[in-house]
Amino acid sequence: MTAVFFLTQGLLPHLSAGASVINISSYFANKMIPKRPSSLYSLSKGALNSLTKSLAFELGPRGIRVNAIAPGTVDTAMRRKTVDNLPAEAKAELKAYVERSYPLGRIGRPGDLAGIAVYLACEEAAWTSGGIFSVDGGYTAG
Ligand SMILES: NC(=O)c1ccc[n+]([C@@H]2O[C@H](COP(=O)([O-])OP(=O)(O)OC[C@H]3O[C@@H](n4cnc5c(N)ncnc54)[C@H](OP(=O)(O)O)[C@@H]3O)[C@@H](O)[C@H]2O)c1
Repeated sequence: MTAVFFLTQGLLPHLSAGASVINISSYFANKMIPKRPSSLYSLSKGALNSLTKSLAFELGPRGIRVNAIAPGTVDTAMRRKTVDNLPAEAKAELKAYVERSYPLGRIGRPGDLAGIAVYLACEEAAWTSGGIFSVDGGYTAG
């Protein structure tokens, strides 16, 4: 959260009309998982969502758009670090949780996030700002 704040501030002199800031938030800002303590992570992603919206207002008059992508669980190094160390029973429980909680029945692959990032970066999104875009296989719809 601190990094996003200061990085955006530091880059401002280089951003002009048409620029697009894309923050990476998480479903964890709004939706928790049983037995997965997330207070600090959720706090930082909730703050990131607020920052995204407030910056959309502050930078909009300069023609700069600010949005966030809120992924569901994605199979990356970060996730594997957490899941690989779980006991077999907990891993099986997590797999069953994903299958019943994600309408599309699986967690994401990194490429599943590419389309929204490209969209937000390009001219087709010229009137899109202050949005928090869930890309999560439908998980947060429930
Ligand atoms: N994976 C999920 O399930 C999930 C779900 C929702 C949201 N997210 C969010 O998605 C974002 C990316 O997560 P991820 O799952 O892709 O994590 P990841 O696999 O651990 O990748 C994190 C990336 O950040 C880079 N990085 C870490 N610390 C850095 C630093 N101090 N300076 C510059 N680069 C740094 C790493 O670079 P190196 O490879 O060089 O270390 C790596 O490329 C995070 O904001 C995370 O909260 C992830």
